[in-house]
Amino acid sequence: MRERNVRRMQESANSHGLRLRPHAKTHKSAFVALRQMAHGAVGVTAATLQEAEVFAGAGVGDLLIAHPPVGEPKLRRLRALAADVDRLAVAIDTVELAEYLPAGVEILWEVDTGLHRLGTAVGEPTLEAVKRLVANAGADRFRGLMTHGGHAYRATNDAEVVAAAEDESHGLVETASLLRGAGIAVRELSIGSTPTAHHVEVARGVTEMRPGTYVYGDANQVQLGSQALEDCALAVIATVVSTPERARAVIDAGSKALPSDLRVAGLNGYGIVLGHPGLKLDRLSEEHGVLISDGPIGLRVGDRVAIIPAHACTTVNLHPALLVVADSESRWEPVDARGWR
Ligand SMILES: Cc1ncc(COP(=O)(O)O)c(C=O)c1O
Repeated sequence: MRERNVRRMQESANSHGLRLRPHAKTHKSAFVALRQMAHGAVGVTAATLQEAEVFAGAGVGDLLIAHPPVGEPKLRRLRALAADVDRLAVAIDTVELAEYLPAGVEILWEVDTGLHRLGTAVGEPTLEAVKRLVANAGADRFRGLMTHGGHAYRATNDAEVVAAAEDESHGLVETASLLRGAGIAVRELSIGSTPTAHHVEVARGVTEMRPGTYVYGDANQVQLGSQALEDCALAVIATVVSTPERARAVIDAGSKALPSDLRVAGLNGYGIVLGHPGLKLDRLSEEHGVLISDGPIGLRVGDRVAIIPAHACTTVNLHPALLVVADSESRWEPVDARGWR
């Protein structure tokens, strides 16, 4: 985590009149969640029951699980969690799921504003679904609408990131106005991604945002222009174990230490090698990363390199702990909610 990333995002949310509910799947760490709360977050967003349980255990009293809790094992844990926290909501896009949710758990209905993953389409399809939801579950349980502008990650230039931010906010605001016209109270409009948070000025009418990756930053954000390289806080430290050719070195970090999902156009390899702009992390096998360069590689066996990964959230999930480096002290912090449970 970089403290100033946490502070700046909070200031940005405050100055645009939005509540900040960071997506904590990025860090999966009670320590980081509590720093976000200390800066003014209203609560956190979780993707898994395990994350929600860890953050509740750390004292976060207001949680959103932004993933449909399907199946009895998850519902059983959701019931226990509901008894443990002050405020709990889940995001769903299936009306029938509402009848299985424990009493007191509120519902955010997911709208598809362009990612085409979960959610009903903007406008009439969402109106029809929410009418059924309210009829079945009661108006009190319906908190509002949420969406994730994740299609920003498909952008190839800044104008496309802005367009995704507009889709995200305008799609929710437009749909909420239809719902309100039909007499349905909409208390929350929740958007969220780090690239679209960079263009939060388009989010008029929205009440909450849920960026996650911003705490650490990564090569995806640098490529998209959402964060500067100096704001990236998470690095994987690797050791050069071989220099088999003049323009090639091999490090001891492969796909078990660095993620191999390259989803942003224009990324130059699997990460940014700090202090070595001419190097490209060209290939990952399980235990090996292959660095290449146009000229001499400039590394020797035993050298250490720091790599800013392409994607922070999937990197964190590969590691049991993080070395938190601060001016005053450095210490290990566990990745408390690591895994899928
Ligand atoms: C539902 C939801 N909200 C918020 C986020 C946070 O987005 P980002 O990782 O771009 O900060 C994500 C990320 O996957 C998400 O799935």
